[in-house]
Amino acid sequence: MSEVSLEGYSPMDPATQQNPFPYYAALRQKADVYPGEGGLFFVSSHAAVLEVLQQPNTFSSQWANSASAPPVEGAEEEMKEIFAKGYPPVSTMLTLDPPLQTRYRKAVGRAFSTRRIESLEPSIRKIAVDLFDGWPDSGRVDFMRQAAIPFPVRVIADMLSMPLEREADVKRWSDDSVASIGVTIGVERALEAARSIVEMQQYVASLLEERQREPRDDFLSELVAAEFEDMEGNTRKLEIPEMISIVQQLMVAGNEATTKGITEIMKLLIENPDEWKRVHEDPSTIPAMAEEGLRLASPNQGLFRVCTKDTEVAGVQIPKGQMLWVMFGSANRDERVFPDPNRFDPTRKNLSDTFAFGRGAHFCIGAPLARLEIRVLFEELAKRLNTVRFAPGTTLEYEPSFILRGLKELEIEIG
Ligand code: HEM
Repeated sequence: MSEVSLEGYSPMDPATQQNPFPYYAALRQKADVYPGEGGLFFVSSHAAVLEVLQQPNTFSSQWANSASAPPVEGAEEEMKEIFAKGYPPVSTMLTLDPPLQTRYRKAVGRAFSTRRIESLEPSIRKIAVDLFDGWPDSGRVDFMRQAAIPFPVRVIADMLSMPLEREADVKRWSDDSVASIGVTIGVERALEAARSIVEMQQYVASLLEERQREPRDDFLSELVAAEFEDMEGNTRKLEIPEMISIVQQLMVAGNEATTKGITEIMKLLIENPDEWKRVHEDPSTIPAMAEEGLRLASPNQGLFRVCTKDTEVAGVQIPKGQMLWVMFGSANRDERVFPDPNRFDPTRKNLSDTFAFGRGAHFCIGAPLARLEIRVLFEELAKRLNTVRFAPGTTLEYEPSFILRGLKELEIEIG
């Protein structure tokens, strides 16, 4: 039996966000699909999440007008003025449906093929090694600032041909792009984030224009040269706002979820010393360990869909126009699929059943890259560290968000 009551349950409640899992369990026990706060349907079971993800046109990803920041109350006019100085927002992958979404994915697909991603291993390993070279042999390390944040930032910046001097900007732009997702922010923060997004757009546009004039051997030049087939069957090149949208999604998704996944996996390894010992002694166990870590972490706890017709999921009627919250984080702990679901068990046989990277049409395009990054990072850590534990005083508090879940900080002691 679950221990919490669903009465008054709100995923937006910062206290609930620190540990939402008992509420998820209570939701699963009550119903696969539960009409929750503000008319939002909570899709919590593994079977129901799968049902929704397998029907991308009935359960549309066009829940936002675009991938750009939603307006914040009291800041609407000023945000509009700031965004007017940038490029018009265009939906490309995350907030679009097939078949158009599939065509945008195709434009990026080649760069993210498993073979191309595998070829990045040496440069990714160098990024990890360079970071760890700055660590002491033993003592206190700020794992967040000395690994979990800079590592994916450098990897994606490298892929997008953004120089190392821009590292702090890349992190700021990606934080600001998700500033209002799953969390309530004030007017000042909203305006700051809007300015930052426009700055990012202008910088990315300048890189793309450079490639249009003088192509190089890099991802941005490939994007500029990509042939895009529109819905009328005409083949054309992508326009600057479309490419900005793609680059922004790669930058944001490439950083936020990966940082959060890496930090949570480190926390799980510290809490489960036998698992740390296992990866230390046999690095070939790292990919399964990482997959299980991502199941529990679910850095992307859930995303929205909007229903395009009257339908039903798991026997529950859902009217047209209804918003759903598709709870990857809950489905990943569904006891009917993952027995003893809160246990960190990298030997589970059905790790491919997780939704950490989603499923179906919107399955994370960066999954091969994220998996490679996590494998390389923990291989290098296992080589260097004998022991690792939480540093005294590290709080293990989570960021206030019900969508992107991750620790605020993680200080460790290494030996
Ligand atoms: C541990 C790290 C990561 C996690 C947990 C993660 C998780 C996810 C999930 C759950 C989705 C599905 C969204 C949906 O169904 O609406 C998704 C989509 C996406 N991810 Fe990731 N992701 C990670 C890393 C990355 C990286 C490294 C990149 C790129 C460099 C990336 C780029 C994307 C993009 C562009 C989409 C949208 C795809 C589409 O809608 O067609 N992700 N990710």
